[in-house]
Amino acid sequence: MKIILTGFMGSGKSAVAMELANRLNHHVLEMDNVVLERNRVKDMRELFDKGDEVLLRQWEIRLAEEWRDIEHAIISTGGGVVINKIILDYLKEGGGKTVFLHAPFHVLSERIKKDTTQRPLFQNLKTAEDLYNFRLPLYKKYADIIIHAEQKPVSKIVEEIIEQIKL
Ligand code: S3P
Repeated sequence: MKIILTGFMGSGKSAVAMELANRLNHHVLEMDNVVLERNRVKDMRELFDKGDEVLLRQWEIRLAEEWRDIEHAIISTGGGVVINKIILDYLKEGGGKTVFLHAPFHVLSERIKKDTTQRPLFQNLKTAEDLYNFRLPLYKKYADIIIHAEQKPVSKIVEEIIEQIKL
C-alpha cells in the first residue's frame, strides 16, 4: 500500500505518517528530510539560502520520480507539492492513494508561526494565508481522501485513514 499524505504546513503530515507507518508496518518517506539530506543542509532556511524555492521544487520533482515505483510506503510530502502536478502524478503511479489532511488556516497558523527555520514560506500571516487560499483547491483536487484533521488526536486521524482507505 502506498499512501501519500498532503496538506498545508502544520497539518500534521509527519506525525500522522509515523503512526500510520507503525500501524501498517510500512516505512516512512519524509520528503523534506530527504531533500535536506541530499543537499547536506540542516533546515529549509539553509536550503532556501543556497538555491531559493526553485531548488526545493526541483528536488521534490526528482524524488517523486525516483519513488514512482515504490509499492509500500507512507510518503509525507512538503506542503508545496501540489503546485507541480507532476509530483503527485509520479507518486500516485501504481495505485498510490492521496490523503489530504485538512484544517482551517487559523489552526495551522497557530501551530507553525514559531517555526520559520523549517518554513521560510511562512513569513507573515497575510502571505501565508494567501498561499493557503491559493493551494486549498489544489489539495482537494488531488485528494483521493480528505480527512478533517483539526482538533483530533493523531490516533483518531490514523483510524479514519485506515477505515476510509479500506485496508
Ligand atoms: C513548504 C512546506 C514545508 C517545506 C518548505 C516549503 C511549502 O513542508 O517543504 O518549507 O511550500 O508549503 P511542511 O509542509 O512539512 O511544513
